[in-house]
Amino acid sequence: SLTKTERAIITSIWDKMSVQADAIGTETLERLFSSYLQTKTYFPHFDLHPGSPQLHAHGSKVVAALGDAVKNIDNMQVALTKLSDLHAYVLRVDPVNFKFLSHCLLVTLATHFPADFTADVHAAWDKFMSIVSSILTEKYR
Ligand code: HEM
Repeated sequence: SLTKTERAIITSIWDKMSVQADAIGTETLERLFSSYLQTKTYFPHFDLHPGSPQLHAHGSKVVAALGDAVKNIDNMQVALTKLSDLHAYVLRVDPVNFKFLSHCLLVTLATHFPADFTADVHAAWDKFMSIVSSILTEKYR
C-alpha cells in the first residue's frame, strides 16, 4: 500500500492535473491509441481521431475516476467498485491494457509537469496506477 510520502505526492500532482483534466485525459488516450493499436478494438463505437469529442469526453471521465480514487485514497476499493464491475463483467478489457494506459498517463504527466516529474513522483504515480489497475481487474474470472 501507499506510504504517507507517496500519498502526499499523489495528492499534490492531482491538484495540478485536476484543472486540466480534459487535456490530460485526452492526450493519454491519444497516446494509448497511437502506441498500442489493439486498445482501439474496445472502442469500435467511438471516433478515435485525435481531438474528437468522444476522446475528450472519455478522457475527462477516466481522469475524473482517478480523482475519485485520489479523494478516497484510504478506501479505493469501495470508491472504484462500480468501475471494477464494469471493466471486469461488462467490458472484459484484457488486463495488459491497464499497463499501457498507466504508462501513457505517466508520459502525459511528465510532458505537462516536467519540473515536478522527479523519479519519486514517477515511482509514486506508477504505484498508484498499478493499485487502481489491480482493483479494476481483480474481479476477472
Ligand atoms: C469506460 C475509467 C482502463 C476501456 C470507463 C469509464 C470510466 C473508466 C470512468 C466510464 C464509465 C461510465 O460511463 O460509467 C477507467 C480507468 C482505467 C480504465 C480509471 C484505468 C486506470 C481502461 C482500459 C480500457 C478501457 C485499459 C481498454 C483499453 C473502457 C471502455 C469503456 C470504459 C471500452 C466504455 C466506453 C463507452 O462506451 O462509453 N472507463 N478505465 N478502460 N473503459 Fe475504462
